[in-house]
Amino acid sequence: LNDPSVSGKDLAQQVCSTCHGVDGNSTNPTFPKLASQQSEYIISQLKVFRSHDRSDPAGSQYMWGIARHLTDAQITELATYFNQQKMIPDQVEHANADLVAKGKLIFNNGVPAQNTPACASCHGANGEGNSSFPRIAGQHADYIEKQLGVFKDTDGRPDGAVMKVITYDITPSEVRAVAAYLSVS
Ligand code: HEM
Ligand code: HEM
Repeated sequence: LNDPSVSGKDLAQQVCSTCHGVDGNSTNPTFPKLASQQSEYIISQLKVFRSHDRSDPAGSQYMWGIARHLTDAQITELATYFNQQKMIPDQVEHANADLVAKGKLIFNNGVPAQNTPACASCHGANGEGNSSFPRIAGQHADYIEKQLGVFKDTDGRPDGAVMKVITYDITPSEVRAVAAYLSVS
């Protein structure tokens, strides 16, 4: 981790894989999946972990030490590596079908009665993301729920202003539904 000559790909396979999975499909929801994540978003997150600007508890606990000595070149290679891995969503058979259906409506339409905009308007029609808008499709439901709490209750995510607004009005049961839908999408 201290050696700038180690390639991002080697780091990904030897270091990041412990938590995020060798192909970016972690199994434990403490660790977000990175497979098929937007490379621009991965780069920005590694830089804000490195600068300590992303300071949510799990981020500082796990990622500050990792990001500390990464060079910009390694960060770019890491982002390319994980972006190129195939996302494997959770199995739909294991999800609650009613919750998934409710979540799909919120993802596509938002909650007009309370002015919550559609997630799809920023995160893409299939949740695939676009440059600085992260992929959220296929992500662990528990991680999604936790991050929405981070946006709502803390200033731990430096680029979280847009998401903070989203979390003002969305209810805990709506969050659970949209997270369930995304985890199998
Ligand atoms: C989050 C990359 C190693 C634990 C993240 C994120 C990225 C990332 C880009 C943000 C994901 C998102 O916002 O969706 C990497 C890379 C690594 C690495 C490139 C290797 C160089 C590790 C290791 C661990 C770990 C070894 C465990 C010891 C975590 C955790 C989070 C995270 C817990 C979520 C933090 C939170 O909840 O805010 N990582 N990671 N990572 N990583 Fe890593
Ligand atoms: C980040 C969910 C709507 C813009 C995120 C993350 C989640 C999420 C879970 C964190 C991803 C990660 O850590 O890997 C949702 C849901 C939405 C929604 C469930 C609908 C209810 C929107 C909308 C916008 C938006 C409408 C744009 C107006 C962003 C941006 C980020 C983000 C820019 C990255 C923030 C950063 O870099 O820290 N969203 N989102 N989202 N979202 Fe949303």
